[in-house]
Amino acid sequence: MHNDVTRRTFLTALSASAAGVLTGGLQKIFAAAAQTRDSTFKLGGDLLVNRLGFGAMRLTGEGIWGWPPDRENAKKVLRRAVELGVNFIDTADAYGPETNELLIAEALYPYPKGLVIATKGGNTRPGPGQWVPDGRPEYLAQAVDKSLKRLKLERIDLWQLHRIDRKVPVEESLGAIKKAQDAGKIRHVGLSEVTVAEIEQAKKVVPIVSIQNRYNITDRESEAALNYCEQQKMGFIPWAPIGGSGTRSLSKAGNALEAEAKRHNVRVVQLALAWLLQKSPVMLPIPGTSSLAHLEENIAAEKLQLSAEEWKRIDAVARES
Ligand SMILES: NC(=O)c1ccc[n+]([C@@H]2O[C@H](COP(=O)([O-])OP(=O)(O)OC[C@H]3O[C@@H](n4cnc5c(N)ncnc54)[C@H](OP(=O)(O)O)[C@@H]3O)[C@@H](O)[C@H]2O)c1
Repeated sequence: MHNDVTRRTFLTALSASAAGVLTGGLQKIFAAAAQTRDSTFKLGGDLLVNRLGFGAMRLTGEGIWGWPPDRENAKKVLRRAVELGVNFIDTADAYGPETNELLIAEALYPYPKGLVIATKGGNTRPGPGQWVPDGRPEYLAQAVDKSLKRLKLERIDLWQLHRIDRKVPVEESLGAIKKAQDAGKIRHVGLSEVTVAEIEQAKKVVPIVSIQNRYNITDRESEAALNYCEQQKMGFIPWAPIGGSGTRSLSKAGNALEAEAKRHNVRVVQLALAWLLQKSPVMLPIPGTSSLAHLEENIAAEKLQLSAEEWKRIDAVARES
């Protein structure tokens, strides 16, 4: 999808829907602020994506297990995300397992031009809520083939090693992925939940274009990996960008950022997403939801531009909380 077209489609769709989602605050801010941050990023130097993406993991059953309870609604969420300009969708063979990749194909195939689907492998699912890494090269090789089939793709744009398997040398795991890349099955390779030392180790085997670590305004443990990505112009894909679904969810009442959100006439999750987008040009947040209303709300955060002073104040409030 050409960027101009993507952006136009995005803004048109958004202006039609945002009025009901937002109470006017974002629109005012957007009108007042020039486009000060880049809304796109070139993943691996050649895949142009809108920086605010979508994480599909929530489109599964309880415990990230099985099909979503309302499969038709889940497909609507995926299609609406694309309509709103999302062209970067994150999934994994482990979500479901398998069902999440199948759902994406069911909802979106044949894919619109320029849609980048990032999947992952290397985590197995013995049961709901259970995750067990498997980094054996033979396992990973067949996992790539199965993802290709489920997603109906000839090549996976971004394949990410979901977890490093501590029982297998990472050179062996990624050796299999390098072979798949050489065979044309994978375009770019990324890693998930890694340290800077692990990224450097991995880069000796295969070029790494992105890192997917947990990160959000109130959880900055992966700051070193983010800084590294910025230096190296690699994509940084923060998972749980709005705090995930548990007790650390930024949508919970009583959040320290509520007063700041109110001042901007937006929701805390929107403030948190705008903060992320302005934190770094390599930041590619992938908020996830099973709700159409939440999707619209999250995507609308792309419009919120914070001045340097506003950004710093929000940053400080979050640090003190
Ligand atoms: N690499 C990894 O190890 C890893 C781990 C976890 C996730 N991920 C990826 O990262 C993506 C995002 O992570 P995540 O889903 O854990 O966390 P998240 O995006 O921070 O939060 C998702 C949760 O927030 C709720 N939510 C979303 N928008 C909302 C809104 N506007 N208002 C109120 N609640 C809202 C969702 O519930 P509703 O459905 O009710 O909206 C869901 O429970 C996943 O989809 C997945 O692709 C990767």
